[in-house]
Amino acid sequence: MERVVRRPAKLAGMVTPPGDKSISHRSLMLNSIAAGEAYVSGLGRGEDVVSTIRCLESLGATIEEAGLNSVRIQGLGSTMQEPEDILNAGNSGTSMRLLGGLVAGQDFLSVLTGDASLRSRPMGRVVQPLRAMGARISGRHGDTLAPLAISGGGLNGIEYTMPVASAQVKSALLLAGLSASGPTVLHQPALSRDHTERMMRAMGATVEEDGLTLTLDPASLRPIDVVIPSDISSAAFWLVAACCHPDADVTVAGVGINPSRTGILEALEAMGADVVLESQREEGGEPVADLRVRSCQLTRTEIGGDMIPRLLDEVPVLAVAACFAEGTTVIRDAQELRIKESDRLAATASLLTALGARVEEQADGLVIHGSGRLHRARVSSHGDHRLAMTMAVAGLAGDGDVTIEGAESASVSYPTFWEHLDSLTGASSN
Ligand code: S3P
Repeated sequence: MERVVRRPAKLAGMVTPPGDKSISHRSLMLNSIAAGEAYVSGLGRGEDVVSTIRCLESLGATIEEAGLNSVRIQGLGSTMQEPEDILNAGNSGTSMRLLGGLVAGQDFLSVLTGDASLRSRPMGRVVQPLRAMGARISGRHGDTLAPLAISGGGLNGIEYTMPVASAQVKSALLLAGLSASGPTVLHQPALSRDHTERMMRAMGATVEEDGLTLTLDPASLRPIDVVIPSDISSAAFWLVAACCHPDADVTVAGVGINPSRTGILEALEAMGADVVLESQREEGGEPVADLRVRSCQLTRTEIGGDMIPRLLDEVPVLAVAACFAEGTTVIRDAQELRIKESDRLAATASLLTALGARVEEQADGLVIHGSGRLHRARVSSHGDHRLAMTMAVAGLAGDGDVTIEGAESASVSYPTFWEHLDSLTGASSN
């Protein structure tokens, strides 16, 4: 699908992006291994979450529609069923890595695969520690790439120093640790999203936190009903579009503002953005707010270190903000972006260059010289949902038509993205 995006005279209105993708995956997986029934509402309906649902059903969980964006999950307790066929995680790294940890604790054979992008992404980071816990795992390319064949069960707890601040690796090991024979101790290099720890605690597990060290005791989970807030990583597109558009007043409603995810708000604030947090509240154990954003003149910033895991998926769209900022913005320590759904450092640099920006790609980041404008171009999403939406933001704020090939990939995380764009630009009547 191709979409042409151009700057509207005004960008205004209110949108509620889909439920947080990370929390959606976790609420489905954890409730599937809890003993009993749970309702999850506000579930994100992107293709990644659908992949997780399909895999969990193949493992014996019952997941039924229960109204708009709600499902009823009949959990199996700690013992799942051997899947008859290969589990397909599609484009979703979170599905593959977290489910890898989940099935490592199960006394049967599971084979996990995904699409071409996912089959090229590194799995050694979960294979190695899961093996140390006792799982038997083989895969392509020296057991570092999917498909992965996992014979699980009989795990022991380990103490493990994580080489990267990855919430997917952390969560895979915590999921495996639930059924291990002793505690699992994880030393993190920096804080990454903590939704797994929060939800496990709410379901009765003990996860102690001492600085960046987590200790999980083996546990059986009790089901919990979850109300999922809107995804801040999806909200980020509208936040940046409204900052950079000359006449914008946009409210993004019900957004999760868990501190492990709010790096984007801090970065935009440092750039002088006009973002107001309205109606702050707590829903389902996660802090939530409506975010009101108006046009403003942004200024340069520097982003790196511990901030990166807190705005990881927002770096491409933040690079668009940097194009409209006064001065030169520097993003460093972001080498993890090279192994996402695409090489997001190389792709963001080349896409923005095609739009007339002055961007230098570094080994671990980007240097962006703000010019206040982007021009017309035909670009490709690289099959990456976040790049498709980042290019749409460039079109909303820049001077010329941006024609996006592969625009349909937005539905991996945000199936209603184009509808919401039409509503904020006045192209639709809702
Ligand atoms: C996620 C963790 C991050 C993030 C991804 C979702 C999660 O990946 O990029 O979109 O839900 O745990 P890494 O753990 O690989 O950094």
